[in-house]
Amino acid sequence: GDAYLVTHALAKHTLSDLRSVETEQVAFRKGLVKLGRICGYEIIDGAMSTEYVEIETPLTDTMGERVTGLDDVVIVNVLRAATPFVEGLLKAFPHAKQGVISAGRDESAGMDEDGQFPIDVDYEKMPEITEADTVIVADPMLATGSTMTAVLERVTAAGDPDNLFVLSAVSAPAGVTRVAEQFPEVDLLTVSIDDHLDDDGFIVPGLGDAGDRAFR
Ligand code: PRP
Repeated sequence: GDAYLVTHALAKHTLSDLRSVETEQVAFRKGLVKLGRICGYEIIDGAMSTEYVEIETPLTDTMGERVTGLDDVVIVNVLRAATPFVEGLLKAFPHAKQGVISAGRDESAGMDEDGQFPIDVDYEKMPEITEADTVIVADPMLATGSTMTAVLERVTAAGDPDNLFVLSAVSAPAGVTRVAEQFPEVDLLTVSIDDHLDDDGFIVPGLGDAGDRAFR
């Protein structure tokens, strides 16, 4: 697996809005939707191919170009912070199937000495996943990677797609390493790999707690 930075200028612009403590709840959610759309376009541009097709304009026959595999996309929504992010992704992939998984850190247990949190999975519903599918597991934050590795265990149990992406807005180095070690078949896309995790497992500089900022 490889790690790619989403370098589109609007992605960096929008992530900066999300980071700002002055961005309130509604603007924060809208920012996540916008970032999801931009990242979706970047996935199409960087990882999907196009094919030539014959089309007919009102005037004549000509060759057009279509993205291959746009109908074979599965987006996995990691509740709850990913919901607005996925809404944006769906603007790039309107025909995607959607998996939903509720996975959260048990904060009361605290971070263990390996820098991991126990993860509670309360609900999971995956669509059928085939080899031909492009699967995008979306979560705005990849901190310790505890949540994402728990989610990827379930996604890979549901199918073995040729293209499996993890998409996050902001990542910590520890989470990137953990996903790469445990799931070498996964390609990771993120807008930023931040400096470090603090003692409570928060990404620094980060953007705070995305779920709380979007929904509290
Ligand atoms: C946040 C975030 C990720 C997870 C990342 O969710 O949305 O799912 O933490 O941390 P990790 O990489 O250390 O596992 P949280 O558990 O706060 O749940 P929420 O989205 O419901 O607020």
